[in-house]
Amino acid sequence: MTALLELGVDEKRYGTRTVLRGFHLRLAPGEVVSLIGASGCGKSSLLSIAAGLDGQYRGSVRLRGGAIRGTHAEIGLIFQEPRLFPWLTVEQNIVFGAPDAPDAGRVSALLEEVGLSGFGKSLPKQLSGGQAQRVAIARGLYTRPRVLLLDEPFSAVDAFTRMRLQDLLARVAEQHRLSVLLVTHDIDEALYLSDRIVLMDGVPGPARAEFEVDHTRPRERAVLATSTLKPAILESLHAVHAI
Ligand SMILES: Nc1ncnc2c1ncn2[C@@H]1O[C@H](COP(=O)(O)OP(=O)(O)O)[C@@H](O)[C@H]1O
Ligand SMILES: [Mg+2]
Repeated sequence: MTALLELGVDEKRYGTRTVLRGFHLRLAPGEVVSLIGASGCGKSSLLSIAAGLDGQYRGSVRLRGGAIRGTHAEIGLIFQEPRLFPWLTVEQNIVFGAPDAPDAGRVSALLEEVGLSGFGKSLPKQLSGGQAQRVAIARGLYTRPRVLLLDEPFSAVDAFTRMRLQDLLARVAEQHRLSVLLVTHDIDEALYLSDRIVLMDGVPGPARAEFEVDHTRPRERAVLATSTLKPAILESLHAVHAI
């Protein structure tokens, strides 16, 4: 299938230090891919490049085959922390930075979708961490992206909230037919949400391994408990003995 997004990072350096080399990743339309790897292996650097926030690299980012530079309305990015402006209301945060005049109908539809109807006039300080991340998701969807990039988006919330946010992500990915690239440390989260899991290495180079998750989406969490992929992934991460 033709890739919707194609990342080809020949080289990414900070000063003399190379963090990515020869790393290629293709996202098919509607495909959800999780990226797992130890801290410092370059996951956030890769997402910054994919989002067009970092142009200092050798290689290319292609959307439907065409090379792009800089940010793109069809590519949304969600960080670990919600990054809301504290002085703006929820509604204002959602539309902030979008080029066109605010679309109140779309804002209220998105608020409903993320389970925050009635919170439009609230300020970020009135929200819980999970609610604030829901606003960030609504903001990420506002410009109707085709691709959503998420950098450890649920790491800062408690386990229950995390599961609910995972369900929300699964739902919006399905409803908006998004291609998703999700950076996570959580193998269960990757198994629950993604079609494919890509492992990165501390050594700059191509992906260390890739796993196809065969279960159809949406998934039952219980099914994943018996997935034979988990030990294979742990093995691949050389993490079996550390747990
Ligand atoms: N702006 C920067 N300047 C210098 N080094 C950086 C910068 N951003 C990240 N790094 C370094 O690059 C490596 C990869 O970082 P990062 O992409 O954040 O990894 P990950 O998200 O996988 O933890 C790390 O060693 C980090 O310290
Ligand atoms: Mg990171």
